[in-house]
Amino acid sequence: METLDVTKIEPRLKHPSIFEKFDALADGQSFVIHNDHDPVPLYYQMIAERGQIFEWEYLKKGPEIFEVKITKLKAGEKSKTIGELVASDYRKAEVFRKFGLDFCCGGHKTLKEACDKKGINVLEVESAIAEIEKTSKNNQQDFNNWELDFLADYIVITHHKYVTEAIPMLNEFSAKVARVHGSSHPEVIEIAKHYNAVAEELSMHMPKEENILFPYIKSMVEAKRKELPISSPGFGTIANPIRMMEAEHVSAGGNMEKVNELSNGYAPPVDACASYRVLFAKLKEFEEDLHQHIHLENNILFPKAIELEKELLN
Ligand SMILES: [Fe+2]
Ligand SMILES: [Fe+2]
Repeated sequence: METLDVTKIEPRLKHPSIFEKFDALADGQSFVIHNDHDPVPLYYQMIAERGQIFEWEYLKKGPEIFEVKITKLKAGEKSKTIGELVASDYRKAEVFRKFGLDFCCGGHKTLKEACDKKGINVLEVESAIAEIEKTSKNNQQDFNNWELDFLADYIVITHHKYVTEAIPMLNEFSAKVARVHGSSHPEVIEIAKHYNAVAEELSMHMPKEENILFPYIKSMVEAKRKELPISSPGFGTIANPIRMMEAEHVSAGGNMEKVNELSNGYAPPVDACASYRVLFAKLKEFEEDLHQHIHLENNILFPKAIELEKELLN
């Protein structure tokens, strides 16, 4: 692969030379830039002038030498959806959450579409993502590479278990705070209503996944491993229950979004008592867990299960 030694180029020609090199690349081709400082300003300039049509990968990251492999993306890779971005690197979820961008139920939108809809500057989000990309990926779990049966079990023993355990406490606290503070803070009554709707929906939703959908996904993985035919499920194609699960995610996610709005992003008022504060902190944790949970299903488990079924039926 060709390396462009930027240290040897006259300062005013550095960026134009790199752009010239980049523009001459065919889709999928790469080159490396070699520099004596972090070329991140170039990254932002490329985003601004060419858009998200390249991949930026540090091969060496200082302190003396910086090398970045720049790849021109192939058509189709250019506008990854938010869900795909999070699936490839879960740390990006934190960025989307901060900007109020929905990466689970609204994960099918491209970053640009989602930002436009919310009136957010896409460049700001992209630079926050670039910051995350600079840090080590080591301590995040790579859900995207997990076997689907393992992922399904993981969702049950972490997220379903969390929801099941959180519900009794949240039921108690949301009811208590609504009763005690509803007259001075009527929004807590609305919060309890929307939270209750989520709790009821999830209590019916999770058993469907655990008893019907996930066992079928696991049986497909098993069939593939053992090269056995799959037996046809009662629900026709797997796309049917998945569509239903996704619709239920939209509903639960929407109710939690309402809770978030009504609680002003889980910020308790100054006169809030301890129960009030605990309720808001716990609801915040509950929403964050729900986002991660729905993300793993909508963006990783479900699309891969649909693909696996297609593969097995062929
Ligand atoms: Fe689930
Ligand atoms: Fe689900």
